[in-house]
Amino acid sequence: MKVVVIGSGYVGLVTGCCLAEAGNQVVCVDHDAGKVAALRAGRLPFHEPGLDELLAAQLQAGRLSFETSIARAMRHAAVAFLAVGTPSQTNGSANLENLLHCVHELADTAFEDCVIVVKSTVPIGTGDHIEKLLNAKHGAAAGQPRVRVASNPEFLAEGRAIRDFRHPSRIVVGANDEGSAQALAELYAPFVERGASLMFMDRRSAEFAKYACNAMLAARISMVNELAGLAGSLGAGMEAVCRVLKSDPRIGAGYLQPGAGYGGSCLPKDLRALIRSAQEAGEPAYMLRSVQRVNRLQGRKLFDAIRDHFGGGLRQRRIAIWGLSFKPGTDDVRSAPSLALIHALLGAGATVSAYDPVAMNAARAALGDTATVFGESALNVCEEADALVLMTEWEEFKAPDFEAVAARLRGGVVFDARGIYRPGLLRRHGLQCHRLGERPAG
Ligand code: UGA
Repeated sequence: MKVVVIGSGYVGLVTGCCLAEAGNQVVCVDHDAGKVAALRAGRLPFHEPGLDELLAAQLQAGRLSFETSIARAMRHAAVAFLAVGTPSQTNGSANLENLLHCVHELADTAFEDCVIVVKSTVPIGTGDHIEKLLNAKHGAAAGQPRVRVASNPEFLAEGRAIRDFRHPSRIVVGANDEGSAQALAELYAPFVERGASLMFMDRRSAEFAKYACNAMLAARISMVNELAGLAGSLGAGMEAVCRVLKSDPRIGAGYLQPGAGYGGSCLPKDLRALIRSAQEAGEPAYMLRSVQRVNRLQGRKLFDAIRDHFGGGLRQRRIAIWGLSFKPGTDDVRSAPSLALIHALLGAGATVSAYDPVAMNAARAALGDTATVFGESALNVCEEADALVLMTEWEEFKAPDFEAVAARLRGGVVFDARGIYRPGLLRRHGLQCHRLGERPAG
């Protein structure tokens, strides 16, 4: 099948590469000529495990190409995905400017019987709006068939996107007409053969399902973070409590890891957009607002714990940070709890030395000209630091040489924001370990 993917960002590239791998002829489009040139040469603009190899293999096989022009790409397309970013606006709503720009370009393009599929996360009703916009122009042009728009939200998680795309837990297709449902069923047939289930529904339900999933995931994280804080205050151990929670099949085992709060380019943005939609619909959205509030507080709690450890003042203190990306496996630092912590630490007069195995350049760009020092290695940033804060659970931080850490860390205290260290083990190395939501073991 000839497939066009408009928007060669994270979702678009993963979609394009994986659909090419499944045997389709794929053209990915991006308006950024520099990016297109780099992609044609097999260079990715971000880090995602396995994607560079997949990109190279599909380019080599001649199943994948890149274009700057939607009109050129659309020739003979059977399915065209819209996969451009929908970032937050200041009022929380999704910014559809880039998406609508592409839609207008599509409206000016003559194409044959092609299903337009919205993969970007968009407010409920956006598919209806796009269909109207396209048909206002296309319907008018003589001999052009009516344009059909479907919704096919993406559930990829960064760091394991290829695996998620190849083996999805489900594929959601929101289609208000039989033809587009059939086209997507055909496109995804190889994935269904491998065990994925296709879930058909109307377009608005599919758009909403995407927000509902991210809202539910965010709610679990805020709930477990609140429970962890409570457990700490009441003298209970959250790790044991989590084991009990996870053993209940009605609760399920995923997304119950307490931490520094959820970050990234999706959960915070989608929560904001859903709350904005609720507001417009006159719904109070009490739960969603609380989820967001608890998440904001969680980052603050970590900062307070560090400040309180040093008797309320951080001036002249040097704090080492391990991990900058919002989670392991990615160089994405958007809404990363580490950046909020760094800003708070610097604001309180501390100095910060940070290290991350892949996200250092992204963090440098995001932090601008703050006084953060970036080290060459995990041990290097501990040198003469008063405290170490573990922010991202990268593999290389899981079992470090604590002897070497203790020898460098003059303050001898570790704040474990991800709950991965055994306080007893650290104690044996002369290190004090604070875990979020737990009383200091002393
Ligand atoms: C999330 C969803 O998991 C995907 O299904 C969805 O497709 C994607 O958003 C999207 O909308 O595009 P992602 O942002 O890549 O994916 O990250 P997650 O793996 O969900 O992690 C989000 C945040 O929650 C991270 O900061 C992570 O550290 C935190 N988290 C996750 C916890 O604090 N505890 C947990 O138990 C799980």
